[in-house]
Amino acid sequence: MPYVTEQNLTDVVLDRWRAVPDPRLREVMQSFIKHVHAFVRDIEPTEAEWATAIDFLTRIGQRCTDKRQEFILFSDVMGVSMLVDAINHRLESGATPTTVEGPFHVPNAPALADGANMAAGCPGIPCFVTGTVKGLDGRPIANAKLDLWQTDGEGLYEAQRDVTGPWMRGVFHTKADGSYTIRTVAPIGYSIPMDGPVGDLVRRTDISEMRPAHIHFCIEAPGYRRVVTHLFNRACPYLETDVVYGVKAPLIVDFVENPPGTAPNGEKIDTKFYTIKYDFVLQPVAQAAAAA
Ligand code: BEZ
Ligand code: FE
Repeated sequence: MPYVTEQNLTDVVLDRWRAVPDPRLREVMQSFIKHVHAFVRDIEPTEAEWATAIDFLTRIGQRCTDKRQEFILFSDVMGVSMLVDAINHRLESGATPTTVEGPFHVPNAPALADGANMAAGCPGIPCFVTGTVKGLDGRPIANAKLDLWQTDGEGLYEAQRDVTGPWMRGVFHTKADGSYTIRTVAPIGYSIPMDGPVGDLVRRTDISEMRPAHIHFCIEAPGYRRVVTHLFNRACPYLETDVVYGVKAPLIVDFVENPPGTAPNGEKIDTKFYTIKYDFVLQPVAQAAAAA
């Protein structure tokens, strides 16, 4: 074995890590070693800087609990979550694009009837989302499952509220004609959690910590690719600077303001309310395999 020098060290390490029987693990580790060595050669850290980097990663781990994942937040803020999402969801044009799931999805939301209110008792301006779920061929998909979650009108998710019951989330199903109607309240833009090491890092920059107002959707139907996505409010000032890079043009919608009156679910609303129209387009599973 050659003794190491600054010049040969990367090759010596790569050579050692050739002895990995699992080919995928070997490929991943070889690439990791190449890139992390190139990074260190590029920045030439002092020992104090390297210790700071180790301390940062340590604090990220220490900030994680069963309710909080600071590593995912770091990946989100570095744009890596959206890159992994993009690589794994190369859909046909015309299919509704995906975005990151984020940390606030709570499984097993209550099943609600078409037109029901997933924001009962929650603060905010009433908001109705209507549209259809269809396939790339334009045919409506009956009984597609729409799992929604979002902030309330004060910018808080269930995990950030001291509540026991479900808060701002619900599961809806399309009708036979593929249509759906959801009553909720309008979400507002909000800050990612800033009380941990990722927040400390963002505060040392001019980067906005805000996410634009959005509603999260996970849509599933047998025979189609599952879509995890958001709808964003076109009027929100944070669209261009989303801290997790989640905004895609086809997902920006108008929150149309309406005077008091009859809402899309037939209810009489005595305050102003918003309406959003959106047709989700799902890609068949077989088509995805052919395109890949
Ligand atoms: C969210 O949209 O819920 C979210 C996504 C990534 C980081 C923080 C929040
Ligand atoms: Fe969100």
